Amino acid sequence: MFPSGRVDPVILGHLLGQHRDLHARLLALRADFAAAHDANPPSAKAVRDRLLELRDHLRDHFVQEEQGGFLEESIARMPRLSVAAREVVAEHPRLLAELDTLVATLPPRDLRDDSWDEAARGFAAFTDHLLAHERNENAVVQQGYNEDFGFSD
Ligand SMILES: [Fe+2]
Ligand SMILES: [Fe+2]
Repeated sequence: MFPSGRVDPVILGHLLGQHRDLHARLLALRADFAAAHDANPPSAKAVRDRLLELRDHLRDHFVQEEQGGFLEESIARMPRLSVAAREVVAEHPRLLAELDTLVATLPPRDLRDDSWDEAARGFAAFTDHLLAHERNENAVVQQGYNEDFGFSD
């Protein structure tokens, strides 16, 4: 059961669905980078476009999280979460900046070129940072609501 409060469970469910969507996008990009040295690697443009799409989705997702009120609601329910919740929100601009830097430094050549190895490492690091962020965020909300939402990771 969701507690009654300011938070709309539909919005919260929507945000959790977005987490799954973001995971799927990360996996697709990881496959793109992994295919860099295959016979038929994706085009540089395709990877760039996918990264830009991820960027757009992430920005919208962060805005909805910040406006959705559930982090505030978690704090209201459990004030000791406020530091953790503030840290989670402070990570949003940092993650977007990290992704922007990655896109801005993508090599112009095709993926077979070794210059893409560094972009692949940058993407792997970004993936780690984003997944750690989502874990922390899920933990804040889960503790705030004292609910198990069935987050897998
Ligand atoms: Fe977030
Ligand atoms: Fe999130």
